[in-house]
Amino acid sequence: MLELVQAESNAAPSPDASPAPALPTLRLITCGSVDDGKSTLIGRLLFEQSLIFDDQLAALERDSRRHGTDGDNIDFALLVDGLEAEREQGITIDVAYRYVSTKRRSFIIADTPGHEQYTRNMATAASNADLAILLVDARKGLLTQTCRHAAIVSLTGIRHVVLAVNKIDLTGFDAAGFDKIVADFKVFAEPLGFKTIVPIPISARHGDNVSEKSANTPWHHGPALLAHLEAIDVEEDKSGQPFRFAVQWVNRPHLDFRGFSGEIASGTIRPGDEIVVAGSGRASRVERIVTADGDLDCAAAGDAVTLTLADELDIARGDVLCDPKRRPEVSDQFAAHLIWMSDDKLLPGRSYLLKAGARTVPVTITELKHRLDVNTLGELPARTLSLNEVGVCNLATTTPIAFDPYKENHATGAFILIDRATNATAAAGLISFGLRRATNIHRQGLNIAKLDRARLKNQRPAALWFTGLSGSGKSTIANLVESRLYAHGVHTIMLDGDNVRHGLNKDLGFTEVDRVENIRRVGEVAKLMTEAGLIVLCSFISPFRAERRLVRELLDQDEFIEIFVDTPIAECIARDPKGLYKKAIAGEIKNFTGIDQTYESPEDPEIIVARDGQTAEQAAAKIVAALVERGFIDKIDDLGDDWSI
Ligand code: ADX
Repeated sequence: MLELVQAESNAAPSPDASPAPALPTLRLITCGSVDDGKSTLIGRLLFEQSLIFDDQLAALERDSRRHGTDGDNIDFALLVDGLEAEREQGITIDVAYRYVSTKRRSFIIADTPGHEQYTRNMATAASNADLAILLVDARKGLLTQTCRHAAIVSLTGIRHVVLAVNKIDLTGFDAAGFDKIVADFKVFAEPLGFKTIVPIPISARHGDNVSEKSANTPWHHGPALLAHLEAIDVEEDKSGQPFRFAVQWVNRPHLDFRGFSGEIASGTIRPGDEIVVAGSGRASRVERIVTADGDLDCAAAGDAVTLTLADELDIARGDVLCDPKRRPEVSDQFAAHLIWMSDDKLLPGRSYLLKAGARTVPVTITELKHRLDVNTLGELPARTLSLNEVGVCNLATTTPIAFDPYKENHATGAFILIDRATNATAAAGLISFGLRRATNIHRQGLNIAKLDRARLKNQRPAALWFTGLSGSGKSTIANLVESRLYAHGVHTIMLDGDNVRHGLNKDLGFTEVDRVENIRRVGEVAKLMTEAGLIVLCSFISPFRAERRLVRELLDQDEFIEIFVDTPIAECIARDPKGLYKKAIAGEIKNFTGIDQTYESPEDPEIIVARDGQTAEQAAAKIVAALVERGFIDKIDDLGDDWSI
């Protein structure tokens, strides 16, 4: 899952740096909880393969005396736990990649933290790995953490697992205890679909079954760890994938050359091969595979190339070129696993950006089906996801994307979600399947357009969006404006928070999740009302910028007029028209805007009212004047202070 690396500082470098081995480089991840001995195991491997330089060894001996946890012996974990902070705390806090070559093979080892709060780091590392070593303490057996690690490893598509039962020396090399752990693990891992599970009893500290088979475990008939890692063939899993190529840019240096540049996500391509553009279905043949070092006869997954085609096709950045016989799915709705990576909770209904391949499109989570209890693989009911939680959801993008189920193709089945306000990575996603309902629903063409309906009413549709604290006067001002418009013969409709919550949104409360959904639905209704040619007055606290922007983007340009009713909170509390502030301050109402939930003021509203003691009538007059100025309504005769109809 290439994109995941973006979220981390320690990106996994290319394996090409290692000398050519008989078998391709094996990328592996080690997982275990804090004192299962992960770092010691890797240190031991390095040491036994003489992969430590003398000066490192001297430093190690010195450090072992200072920080070590292994008496006077060399503490191999110190070799691996390179970060100073880790040493002080005795834990591994980031993903560290190590490059190791034996005579037979090269390895890239990702050492990841075991703590629950580092699930996202683990998922990042696992998404690049072919095999996982799951460490278990022989004395403790399977812990919930082991199960969590196994579940995440499986989720990210790793199919090969080594169950390293460590500290076997401390159980007196007990075969029965080992067998029990193996049996327990096989039961747990059954639904996870691993292709190989190889259990090995080891002592990372003393070296049993690490590089060599140990005389202390004559009952172990399997391999030593290193022999297994050197021999396992994971390549067959990757070969035979269909051609996928996401166009990163259209390369057009002069009129005679038009190429499509990008990286081959999977499969291979040769000049003469047929391709189709996944979205449009248009077909052509590859003419040339151009690189800086000359043309190629063949290019494969991972190669950055420029393809020229035999025909002039309309292809843009983000399009996916693919094998015509094995096409990806193309859909704007699909089911996926999300691994939440942000401190800000998932808000279904909020608009995020989805980045898959070279395409970035707005997306919302239309349904959070459940959260995965990664310790037990159970399904938990959930309305949101917090940092490190894994959920199963349906998502809807604003434009269709091409993808394969992650199970079949890691490169084209993974995406990241980006928070639109902070630009931070919010989640990693793994696509399960496209939703058929999306492919069976098409847009119906309408005879009468919005502007036709509006023209009949002799007006321009608009949504006047009143936002502000409870008690700020939104509804009062909106009522005055509507009265004035009505008196002038303008066709309007009022959507008011309190009223809508008695009907359409009676199932929603005031949690962040519910408020997002409240505004999403109201936004859709406002859109329909503008389609009817109406001027829609919407009076909602609508405390979050993201949802106000969502409604703005739903509507046509210049149709959304954000009106910030900027009454200071002290004034709202003093007014307290419904007695709700009193209850909220007494703690009787939870999630009350301005008291224990935030209100994000508009940054650039079209109109601001109620500042500096402006009365409701003055505010309404200002809004009406603004509507005239913007050409939504004709000039209204000055009715003076008479705001009644
Ligand atoms: S919004 O935040 O989702 O936009 P909305 O405008 O629909 O809120 O509803 C706000 C109205 O609900 C308030 O005017 C108030 O009368 C009532 N209300 C009840 N509980 C709360 C609460 N916890 N926070 C804010 N308003 C509340």
